[in-house]
Formats: sequence, structure tokens, C-alpha cells
Amino acid sequence: MHRILPEPVSTFASDVDWIHNVITYISVFFIIGITAVAVYFAIRYRQKGDKPHKTPHIHGDNRLEILWTLIPTLVVIFVATQGYLIHKEMRTPPPDAFEVNVTAQQFAWTFTYPNGKVSNGELVLPVDKPVKLIMKSRDVIHSFFVPAMRTKQDVLPTQYTYLWFEPTKTGEYQAFCAEYCGTNHSGMLAKVKVVSQGEYDRWLNDRSDEIAKSKMSPVELGRKLYKDKLCYTCHSIDGSRLVGPSFAGIWGKKEKLSDGSEVVVDENYIEESLRNPNAKVVAGYPPAMPSYEGQLSDEEISALIAFIKDLKEGAGGGKEKQAAKTEAKTSEAGADAGSPLKRGEELFKTKLCATCHSIDGTRLVGPSMKGLYGKTEELADGSKVVVDDEYIKESILNPSAKIVKSYPPAMPSFKGQLSEEDIKSLIEYIKSLK
Ligand code: CUA
Repeated sequence: MHRILPEPVSTFASDVDWIHNVITYISVFFIIGITAVAVYFAIRYRQKGDKPHKTPHIHGDNRLEILWTLIPTLVVIFVATQGYLIHKEMRTPPPDAFEVNVTAQQFAWTFTYPNGKVSNGELVLPVDKPVKLIMKSRDVIHSFFVPAMRTKQDVLPTQYTYLWFEPTKTGEYQAFCAEYCGTNHSGMLAKVKVVSQGEYDRWLNDRSDEIAKSKMSPVELGRKLYKDKLCYTCHSIDGSRLVGPSFAGIWGKKEKLSDGSEVVVDENYIEESLRNPNAKVVAGYPPAMPSYEGQLSDEEISALIAFIKDLKEGAGGGKEKQAAKTEAKTSEAGADAGSPLKRGEELFKTKLCATCHSIDGTRLVGPSMKGLYGKTEELADGSKVVVDDEYIKESILNPSAKIVKSYPPAMPSFKGQLSEEDIKSLIEYIKSLK
């Protein structure tokens, strides 16, 4: 109601407030009215003294019955009709609305304009022009919410959704992500900047950004890309832990990977991690990074490498890890190259099972494979399942059918990607991980 939300600044915002207020006033009226009458009756007809009195026999009153059926019915019809009409207006963009593409990803918003201009975390719009936002997510479900415009819409990874509004007043308004999407959901913000048409045109055609970019040193360009490409949402540069490893002091460091092997963070590793992030995931981190293949030029990749290199004197410089241990403990049995066990081990690596399932008991995205075979696991729905050939096969082909409790349903199906024999080999391998 009043002033809990910011000032309404879109064409339909006052309608939204109006219907919201009407419903609230009606509710408050009836809550107070009914409570007051109930309290009054309780006092008026309480037992007086200690002599019980007979409850009188009361017949219904038809006029009263009609009245208290008819009035609420009319109220409900009125609210439903008004709600429908306003909702319809909010869901029907005018044909002359101009379009801006919105990309959501953990944990930031990117806006792409018809002329190719890209803006991060700031949606610039001309006043008094309807805009249609065409929205898609690159990872999980987000929701674009601009309270001042009184509108909100989920942003999905699987299909485009849209949203429209017409700002009626210049100024800066806050936009939020309104769907819990991970660790930094609350930091997933954007500014909606409504400006005059002239200022908008100037902004839209201002390419000084790109000119400045061409004059930057690689380190400067890398720093800019770190911001523009939203690397900062997952990788800090001050040593603090976010979704991914911090860049502070990471250059030259030996990192332990989720499959137990090690890698030195150098040019090759950074480039590979940008193009194919799931190839080598640092142990203890989820394989959550999207690929930037095709989104960064060779020059930009070099710039990012230069930037990360430049951060090497940052916090936590060189905490040496112990020398290479953890050679994946496997196959004691005489496993020659062609055996199912050996094949399973190979597939476990090449199919990237290792990014989510450890073989040494550590918890990653999914359950560890160590000692899993034969175990009874509790599922998300409370039922139990014994990990046998049947269960492993089902989990490979249809992973979301039976999810072990407290793990996310994150596994992709490998249907069509593994032969019957492959699956048998994987089962053999998992069996061997006692
Ligand atoms: Cu994106 Cu919450």
C-alpha cells in the first residue's frame, strides 16, 4: 500500500496500485468489521452471574442470507474483472514498443540494444516510450523485477519470456532479481535509468567506450572485461571465496582438480577454462561456469590472461600445496586396457563424471562414488534405494528419477551418449571403488 513501494512511474503502475489498494481496503474493512462484531457479541451475550440460560431457537432470515451472499459475490466479480483487465494490459506490449534483449546469468543482468550496444547492469531507456524486454537466462531461473514500474517476470533458461512497460518519469530506478538463483542472488541488481529522448539517442550512439578500449593496455582491457563480462560475480580479486576460485594470487599456482590431478594456472589453463570451463574444474568448486567460446576474441582472452597475471602479488600469494599426491586410487585387479573396468575408468574421466562425483569420498555436486555400490541411499522423496546395477543405469539414463537426498537434481541425462557396454563398464568401475 502507501509508500511501501517506490513512486509509481509506468503507465500501468497506478492501475496496479489502485487494484492493490482496493483489495487491501476491502480486506481491512471486513477484518475489522467481523472481529468487532464477534467481540461485541461475546461480551453482550456472555453468561451473567452463574445461572445458565437456555439458548433461544433462532430461524434463518432469508433477506440476510441473500444480502451476505450477493454482496461478497459482487465484490469478488468486481475484483476479478478489474484484475483481469489490468493484467491483460500489462501482458500486451503495444506494437510500436522498441525491443531490448535481456540476458540473465548468475549473478548479473546484460542488456543488448538493437544497434548492438551492450550494457551491463544498467538499462537505459527513453521516457514516454514503451519498451519490450525480451529475456533469456544463460543458466538457472531468474526474475526481472522493477518495483517502480510495478512489473516482474521470470527469466528462464529454456525459453524467451517478455515484459513491457512505458516509463513516465526520468530518473534512476532499482531492478532486482526476484527468484532465488544461488549464492549471490541478493547481489543480482540492475539500474533502470530513464532519460530524455535526446539523452537516450546520445547514449545509444556513443561508442567512445569501444574507442577507449582500442587504446587500452592488455591489463587495462582485461580489467574492463573482468567487469563487463561479469567475471566478478563468481571470481573475486581480493582473495575472498565466491562461486569460483579467487583470481588473487592464482597465477602460477598449482591447483588440485576435481579428478585428483593437478594443473598449473598459466596461459593455457586460463584460455582452456574460458573456452571449455568444465574440462578442468578446481576441486571443491562446482562446474558452474558457462563457456565464453565465441564471446571473446583472441585479443580479449590475452587481455584477461594479462589481467590475472597482474594480480599475482595480490592476497595469499603462494600458499604451496603439498606435492602431487592423490593419484586416483583405482584398479587393483589385473585391469588390462580392454577390460570393462579400465573402460569404465576412462569413461568416468572423458564423460566428465569426475566434475560432480569424487572417487575419494569428498562431497562435490553429486554423491561420491567411493563405497557407493551396494549402499542404501535415502532419496529426496524420503524413500530408500539400494545402489545396484539397476539404479546406476537408471541414474545415468534418467538422472532426475531418483535423486539422493540433499543433492541438487543437476545431472544431465546421458541417454544416447553411452552404449549398453559403456554403462556396464561404468558400473564395473563404480563397483571397484570400495
Ligand atoms: Cu538471479 Cu536471483
